[in-house]
Amino acid sequence: MGDKMMAGRFVGSTDPIMEMLSASITVDQRLSEVDIQGSMAYAKALEKAGILSKTELEKILSGLEKISEEWSKGVFGVIPTDEDIHTANERRLKELIGDVAGKLHTGRSRNDQVVTDLKLFMKNSLSIISTHLLQLIKTLVERAAIEIDVILPGYTHLQKAQPIRWSQFLLSHAVALTRDSERLGEIKKRINVLPLGSGALAGNPLEIDRELLRSELDFASISLNSMDAVSERDFVVELLSVATLLMIHLSKMAEDLIIYSTSEFGFLTLSDTYCSGSSLMPQKKNPDSLELIRSKAGRVFGRLAAILMVLKGLPSTYNKDLQEDKEAVFDVVDTLNAVLQVATGVISTLQINKESMEKALSPEILSSDLALYLVHKGMPFRQAHIAAGKAVHLAETKGITINNLSLEDLKSISPLFGSDVAQVFSVVSSVEQYTAAGGTAKSSVSAQIEQLRELLKRL
Ligand code: ARG
Repeated sequence: MGDKMMAGRFVGSTDPIMEMLSASITVDQRLSEVDIQGSMAYAKALEKAGILSKTELEKILSGLEKISEEWSKGVFGVIPTDEDIHTANERRLKELIGDVAGKLHTGRSRNDQVVTDLKLFMKNSLSIISTHLLQLIKTLVERAAIEIDVILPGYTHLQKAQPIRWSQFLLSHAVALTRDSERLGEIKKRINVLPLGSGALAGNPLEIDRELLRSELDFASISLNSMDAVSERDFVVELLSVATLLMIHLSKMAEDLIIYSTSEFGFLTLSDTYCSGSSLMPQKKNPDSLELIRSKAGRVFGRLAAILMVLKGLPSTYNKDLQEDKEAVFDVVDTLNAVLQVATGVISTLQINKESMEKALSPEILSSDLALYLVHKGMPFRQAHIAAGKAVHLAETKGITINNLSLEDLKSISPLFGSDVAQVFSVVSSVEQYTAAGGTAKSSVSAQIEQLRELLKRL
């Protein structure tokens, strides 16, 4: 605003603190490249509309080219009066090519410009995030394929529940992430609608060829209504929502792995690359990477909550409140990129400790199998559950584990127990019962791996 760009209407200068509050250049200079792309396309459309001559167009394009070079070499000089990336680039264009630069903004507003820039930025970011996400899913799936024979306790309420394959655990996280990947794909559709050509709110008065703008900027379609186009930030909310859910999935996985890596569980050891030491206690190896992943879920959700609060109660079209959107998007994109790569690193380098897993598979984890044994002998499940419960209780009172109950002990509970009950007390036979699709039997886990490999080709 301190700039002469809008000097016509304003008398005197703006309060310097107001200028600081209003300026977004430190944040939105990340849009420098896409802002130039948008301007180049718009200049071409202006030439087609007869507002620019061929020579003027060439001058503008080569000026913009030069500015792009300055940004990429890190030599673009931001000056105090540059309010945002749009005014900064235009100011520089005028310095480079003179007054003809003033024709570039004809019929355009920063309102349709900024939302176009942000969408261009997000299109690029989404494909980078998707690539990192696919890499993480692939890492989980391939690790699951290699370690398919490893069995450990599965937990509900964080209490030992039933034996499962380690791969079943890995795949449970992979599957959740495939839904996030699909959701990322779905939001692309709506980001891919071009707002440029909507002006400040009423549209474009120059019969600008929006179809030309669309194909120049590689969007799938053009926005339907100018007032909606300059004000809607649905795509920001959608990205942040999908990101939040993705982060919640990563946080769950991180929390599982943190628990499994404690010396109390000892199921796995994280690579030193992803841990840190304690400044006081020499024995400590802290799972910082996983803790950070868990905490970043809170950070990303905070960004979503903030943008929803900004949008709530806004009237139609552009309001300066919308300037807040970029910081949220940049932060979430950076967070996802870092977190996804670290998660992939953690998963691919952690070492599992099969002995600890085996040791944790204490016989009571097979209690539901004991009930199932009776079911196979014809007992209704509800009764079988009670009988197996009695066996657990009897073993407890005798101070032994259920697999050490004698056949007489078991027969005192139900005559259906026979000598073949011994086969119940094997974790391998236990997991191998779950052959229905989605279960933890080897055949079913292998089928999941195959399906995920196929899905990964399509994601
Ligand atoms: N820096 C502004 C933003 O990020 C650009 C749009 C300004 N438009 C306006 N009418 N003041 O939202």
